[in-house]
Formats: sequence, C-alpha cells, structure tokens
Amino acid sequence: MDMLDSEQQKTTGHKSTRPETKFPLGRLSLQQPNKTSIMHFQLTEEHEMIRQAARDFAREELLPGVIERDDKQEFPRAQIKKLGELGFMGMMVSEKWGGAGMDTLSYVLVMEELSKIDASASVVVSVNNSLVCYGLDSYGSDYQKEKYLTPLASGECIGAFCLSEPEAGSDATSQRTTAVDMGDYYLLNGTKNWITNGINATYYLVMAQTDVEKGHKGINCLIVESGMPGFEKGAKENKMGIRGSDTCTLQFTDVKVPKENRIGEDGFGFKFAMKTLSGGRIGIAAQALGIAAGAYEFSKEYAKQRQAFGKPIANHQAIAFKLADMATRIEAARMLVYKAAWMKDQGMNYDQASSMAKLFASETAMWAATEAVQIHGGYGYVKEYHVERLMRDAKITQIYEGTSEVQRIVIGRSVLQG
Ligand code: CAA
Repeated sequence: MDMLDSEQQKTTGHKSTRPETKFPLGRLSLQQPNKTSIMHFQLTEEHEMIRQAARDFAREELLPGVIERDDKQEFPRAQIKKLGELGFMGMMVSEKWGGAGMDTLSYVLVMEELSKIDASASVVVSVNNSLVCYGLDSYGSDYQKEKYLTPLASGECIGAFCLSEPEAGSDATSQRTTAVDMGDYYLLNGTKNWITNGINATYYLVMAQTDVEKGHKGINCLIVESGMPGFEKGAKENKMGIRGSDTCTLQFTDVKVPKENRIGEDGFGFKFAMKTLSGGRIGIAAQALGIAAGAYEFSKEYAKQRQAFGKPIANHQAIAFKLADMATRIEAARMLVYKAAWMKDQGMNYDQASSMAKLFASETAMWAATEAVQIHGGYGYVKEYHVERLMRDAKITQIYEGTSEVQRIVIGRSVLQG
C-alpha cells in the first residue's frame, strides 16, 4: 500500500480498491552537470559536408529526370552507379570491405536529402546499405564479406533482402520457403514477394525455414546469387509510389545454395532478420523524413510565389499555419531519426528508438505530403509540381520494413517491459 492509500484510509476508514501505484522516482540528488552530459544539437563539419554532397547530388542528378522515371517506372541505374562512386551504397561498412566507413548519422543525412527529391532512388540506397551491407558486415563470415559485401558496399552491384512471402508479411515467423539441409548445400524452395531491388540485384539475402519443428529458431538466412539454377525473377510490380524502384516476386525451385552461404549459426536467420530490420527502420524513417521535408520545401517556395486575393498565399494565415505545423512536426521527426542513428552509433540498444522514429516519421510524411498537395491546390494534383509524387511515395513508408502497426507492437512491448 502506498502513502496516498493509507492517508485515504485514515480519512474514510475504508481500504482502497484502487490498483497500487508505485512511483519509481525517489528524491532527486541534484548534481552539477559536467560537460560530457550536455546534449549537442549541432552537426560536425564533416556531417555538414556529407549532407551538402547529397543535397547537390539530389538537385543535379536526381531532380532532372525524376518525373519521367516515375511515369515510366524506370530504375535509376545511372544515378545508383554514381551514388556508388560517391561511397553512398555502403556507407557504414569499413573501407577494408569496400565501404565508406561512415557513421549512421551520415547515412541518415544522405537518405534525408535524396528522399526530398527521389524516394525511388533512396529506397535502393536504403535496402543496400542497411539491410544488405549492414547485415553482412555485422554477421557475415570473412569469406562472405570478401566475396559479397565488398562489391555490394563499393556500389559495383546491389543486393536485396528477402523476408516477405505471400503468407508471411507482418507475421514474419511464418516462413513457408524451405531450405533443406543436404550436407554441403541447402536445397531452397519457395516464393518471396514485394522484394525491393528484386530485378536489378545481384545478391539476395533469403530467409528460409530449415527445421519447421523449431519454429523461428529453425530459420536460416542464405546468400543467393542471381543466375543460380532454379532462381527466377517475376515481373515488376506496377506500384502507386516509388515507381522507379523495382519490386517483384522471386521464385526458388530446387536452388542449390552452398553451406558457406548461410549467415551465422544454424537457426540464426530470424534473429538476423529482426536485428537487421531494426537498423533498416532507421533508414526508412530517414526516407520518410526526407519526403516530408521535400513536401514542405516545395510548398514553402510555391506559397511565397503564388498570389491570391492580392498577396502571396504564404501571407494568408490559413497557409502560414499549415507551413508552421509542417515545420514543427518535421523537426520532431528529425529529432527521433537522428537520435535513433546516434544510439546505434553509440552501441546502445536502438530497437525501440528505430521503431519510434519510423512510426512518427512515416506518419508525418503521409500527412505533410497531403498538406503539400492542398497548399498547391490544383497544381498539386498534377505531376510537374512534384508533391503528388511525394504523397504517393510517402504511403509506402507506413507499410514496408514493418507497418505502422508492427512498429506499435515493437514499441508497446518495449515500453511495457521497461
Ligand atoms: N533483435 C533480436 N531478436 C529479436 C528482435 C530484435 N529486434 N525482435 C524479435 N526478436 C526475436 C525474439 O526475441 C524472439 O526470439 P526468442 O523466442 O529467442 O526470444 C524471436 O525473434 C521471435 O520474436 P517475437 O516472439 O517477438 O515474434 P512475433 O511473431 O511476435 O513477431 C514482429 C514480432 C515484431 C511482429 C515481427 O514478426 C516483425 O517485425 N514483423 C514485420 C516484418 C517486417 O518488418 N517485414 C519487412 C520486410 S523487409 C522490407 O520491407 C524491405 C524492403 O523491401 C524495403
């Protein structure tokens, strides 16, 4: 019984039926904060330079053809090659394995800038960096790093991450794809769908069930090469948004995958997928942040120029308030995204932080892009003003790498166990 209850008993004479409340805080012992405890909200010069390089690239290389690529569902091949040359395809991988040796915050800054203009290109960057390269770098063997990670991180080729199946989306433990242990190889059979980079990738990280009895502990992750006999790629999906990226179904029929292509110990595949996705969600959160910020920037420029009732629409409070709300929510999303990246770089547990960042940033992206179309009025509804594309692109950030509902499951479990 706590103090309040005993006080109540004294005054009423009745025992309280309320649940017990425990206050975790004792008396605070106030200490002078030292310098290391001060929070810094300023980027370093290096971070600013990386951000500027990505911003310039987005304006000079992505903006010119972005509407046409979206319209024709054209993969940004030339642009991805150049991003590889800049070191943006394996940003967090050490130089030893072909990467740029940068931190997660740098990666987030690049994702944000690219996504302001072209979310189709940025999802290719995100999957390659945080699902494929980061997964191989963290859990792969030296053989796998030499053979697969090095060309992936240097941008020579791209990779794909294959977890989703027709009957295993959010319910990711229900893998139907099988990898039967045949001694020195696995025999892989099954179907994967919604695979980003599905057509253009060279290497695929494929989750498959080896021992059904063990449930998720019987799942393995295998590295599959494009062109392995029995591996077929389906047609490109005709999507609402991120239309420049290639999403397709993959079919595996008796594909022989060498044992040395399994990542980690036998049965590590599901944990591998979850750990890797936790970092991936920071990348998609940064993509969503970029989409929101892009929608805001296009809207601000438009609102300063467009005249109505004798003055720029930005000078009407109805529009100024929309811009104020957009700027505020975007800044809140930015704080969550940068914090999750910073926590990852500090070696802290970032599962909850990455889910919070993805949930909030993707909801912000959808809302901000819709507001941007509204600010643009009829012009927002046609392609040349960019915001209708951002609105279509925003939607997927609430779905892939864990829907908003899945993020709430992860956050809910985390806050309740804390
Ligand atoms: N790190 C390490 N282990 C983790 C983990 C994490 N972040 N999250 C879960 N696990 C472990 C659990 O500890 C558990 O292991 P033990 O039994 O040994 O404790 C095991 O994984 C199973 O976890 P749960 O019991 O929590 O599993 P669940 O069935 O309740 O599902 C879930 C949890 C969060 C819903 C999970 O299935 C999930 O994340 N689903 C969404 C999948 C997803 O994000 N798909 C995206 C596809 S990839 C993509 O979209 C890429 C692209 O193209 C852009």
